[in-house]
Amino acid sequence: MTDGIRSGLAQYGDAGLSFFLRKAFIKAMGYSDEALERPIVAITDTFSGYNGCHRTVPDLIAAIERGVMHAGGLPIRFPTISIHESFSHPTSMFLRNLMAMDTEEMVRAQPMDAVVLIGGCDKTVPALLMGAASAGIPAIMEVTGPMMTGHFRGERLGACTDCRRLWSLYRAGEMDDAEIEAAGGRLMPTAGTCMVMGTASSMALMTETVGMMLPGGAAIPAVHADRLRHAEATGARAVALAAEGLTPDRIMTQAAFENAFRMLLAVGGSANGLIHMTAVAGRLGIEVDLAAIDRMGEETPVLVDLKPSGQHYMEDLHRAGGAAPILKELRGLLNLDTLTVTGRTLGEEIDNAPTEVGQTVVRTMSDPIWPEGGLAVLRGTLAPDTAVIKQSAANPELLVHEGRAVVFDGLEDLAARIDNPDLDVAEDDILVLRNAGPRGAPGMPEAGSLPIPKKLAARGVRDMVRISDARMSGTAFGTIVLHCCPEAAVGGPLALVRTGDRIRLDTPARRLDLLVDDAELAARRADWRPPVHAGAERGYLKLYLETVTQANRGCDFDFMAKAGGGNSEA
Ligand code: FES
Repeated sequence: MTDGIRSGLAQYGDAGLSFFLRKAFIKAMGYSDEALERPIVAITDTFSGYNGCHRTVPDLIAAIERGVMHAGGLPIRFPTISIHESFSHPTSMFLRNLMAMDTEEMVRAQPMDAVVLIGGCDKTVPALLMGAASAGIPAIMEVTGPMMTGHFRGERLGACTDCRRLWSLYRAGEMDDAEIEAAGGRLMPTAGTCMVMGTASSMALMTETVGMMLPGGAAIPAVHADRLRHAEATGARAVALAAEGLTPDRIMTQAAFENAFRMLLAVGGSANGLIHMTAVAGRLGIEVDLAAIDRMGEETPVLVDLKPSGQHYMEDLHRAGGAAPILKELRGLLNLDTLTVTGRTLGEEIDNAPTEVGQTVVRTMSDPIWPEGGLAVLRGTLAPDTAVIKQSAANPELLVHEGRAVVFDGLEDLAARIDNPDLDVAEDDILVLRNAGPRGAPGMPEAGSLPIPKKLAARGVRDMVRISDARMSGTAFGTIVLHCCPEAAVGGPLALVRTGDRIRLDTPARRLDLLVDDAELAARRADWRPPVHAGAERGYLKLYLETVTQANRGCDFDFMAKAGGGNSEA
């Protein structure tokens, strides 16, 4: 029995009056008494005129509503914040927690028996999962789905791996103004999320694996008719979820998160997936052990041949069967008895999934595209609380490298000097960016993929070791060490590095070390002062700066995790 329209009444001190007023007001929406007696399935409307990744949300809502109505429920949509990567100043990550809070409180505040979460663009899926995990009512995710690929001069293009590749060619003088402008018009040919294995694709696959999305949903292109059929099925299933009272905490268990991280490793997914799923787990009081994930990586090869680690795009993965062939291949490494939104276990869903004969996008365990998981967790004197490298998208020759640090003190310093012809830099140097972490920037921008200095790019240098406390788009490639914890802005060792210091990266040994003696570092620390941000005395920025956690704890606000959640490495 569901509470429907009677749940969570506004408080007037008279429950009868509260329900009388509620019913009177909602009659203005044109609902009949019969409709209002049905279980309510709310739908988060994350459409925004700024968000091309969510352009199809109105169509998805219509399909979900159809499914809800067929199954005997009453669909009611409500708006939540919508975040697009390129329309979020200073950075989308700064706003993720705000969207999570908005979602949680609006789900809690309004009468609903279940909620369908529509997300897609990078930060929206984790924000919705975080909010739904905390709100605690039955919830199910529908992602908008990836874009189709574009074409330019006979070449297939995908956002945003090819955005970055083309931009480096432009910086190196290999494309002129007209060519880069023309290419820019071809990169995003349809609605949908970035169609490589970036954060959106990684989060979609992790969401299906953790059990919060109906099977097959992760890879269906945004403009494919299958996407609407999946949305309709999601709406229908939400009505059943409401009746069963199947809440996210019964689905997203420790074992289910392990499965999700296993998927992230096997697809060569975005390092952002580590941060986001750690934050979601924290909302349920579940600790994420990065060292354990790194150990999982040793037995989990990269199976999916998708850019930036491989060749293909998400529409190819959909044709290959989506998440199913990856899960089938990983079967022996997964916790198969975890419950999913279908009410069946992950193992049952894997067994039920059809096999796509002849597909070439998902490799076998014995013939992977990279022998280990895509992500490696580092530790050392430069990152005592861990750092992360996406080794599957790195230059193998640079995975073990010692070099001279060339330090940039923040994003402004980087922009001001990186292309200066007088910059003292050589191709075997290590570029270091600091004050770009959660509190430093603030919002931990995707600036970790530092551009190759123009004078080196012009000489054909395409990769260098780059180290920062920033994040990186999952679509980027290169030998890039991210998420150095603690970040420079809270006094992590990154704050003490000076140009000319030696740094050693040893990825197989999982080490990242600053080769400077302790006495010298202590002397530098005595002179260190934290950065000061304009406007930090009020509003959301104040809340953010005072309470955001480090990357290894998910960058959630420290008061939002359920007791016991976060990261055991903290
Ligand atoms: Fe939305 Fe890439 S910008 S998924």
